[in-house]
Amino acid sequence: MSAGRVVEAEDPIELFDAWFAEAQKSEPNDPNAVALATTTADGWPTVRMVLAKPVGEERFCFFTNASSRKGEQLAGNPRAALCFHWKSLRRQVRVEGAVTELSTEASDRYFHSRSRASQIGAAVSEQSRVLANRAELEARWLEFGEAHPGMIPRPEYWRGYCVRAERIEFWMDGAHRLHDRFLFTRDGDGWARSRLYP
Ligand SMILES: Cc1cc2nc3c(=O)[nH]c(=O)nc-3n(C[C@H](O)[C@H](O)[C@H](O)COP(=O)(O)O)c2cc1C
Repeated sequence: MSAGRVVEAEDPIELFDAWFAEAQKSEPNDPNAVALATTTADGWPTVRMVLAKPVGEERFCFFTNASSRKGEQLAGNPRAALCFHWKSLRRQVRVEGAVTELSTEASDRYFHSRSRASQIGAAVSEQSRVLANRAELEARWLEFGEAHPGMIPRPEYWRGYCVRAERIEFWMDGAHRLHDRFLFTRDGDGWARSRLYP
């Protein structure tokens, strides 16, 4: 996609979809991998990768354990920043906004769309807590599967979150470090767009 088409774009979600479609073709794996930044109660930033999943109209959703480090941080400060980097395209998309929890129905739907093995994995992982050794995790996984031959119930603490973008910035690599940056910020029902110095 040429810079010209990006300059003309008025809807950052449509532009994101177009870039994402290109990333799906060119990235070797996980084009939806995105860095998720949250903050501790005293303002320290923390960051880790998650997989972004679209849910209905929302593009920037992810699923995780609400009792994890990030989950506890989001409970204290429901705001986040995301950063996609598609190395194959030399492009970056940054998203910032408030975070809301998905409905239990939407979390259930996504949980049960995953493989049984992954559902069990999510159910037995006390994400971010200290684990004595790998054998303990594998034993829990086996035991849980045996104890639940039928449907795996979604753990109450495992759920989806969505970032409602207030700012979305598109960055494209340019020659001589003259990169292109286009910032969209929410403006009423629409978006205001500006070009930034690289
Ligand atoms: C490419 C990639 C994708 C990941 N996707 C997720 C995800 O969707 N949800 C999740 O909880 N953890 C995911 N992880 C693991 C997280 O990066 C992290 O280790 C975990 O969520 C614990 O983070 P926390 O201790 O900050 O809560 C992923 C890791 C990688 C490298």
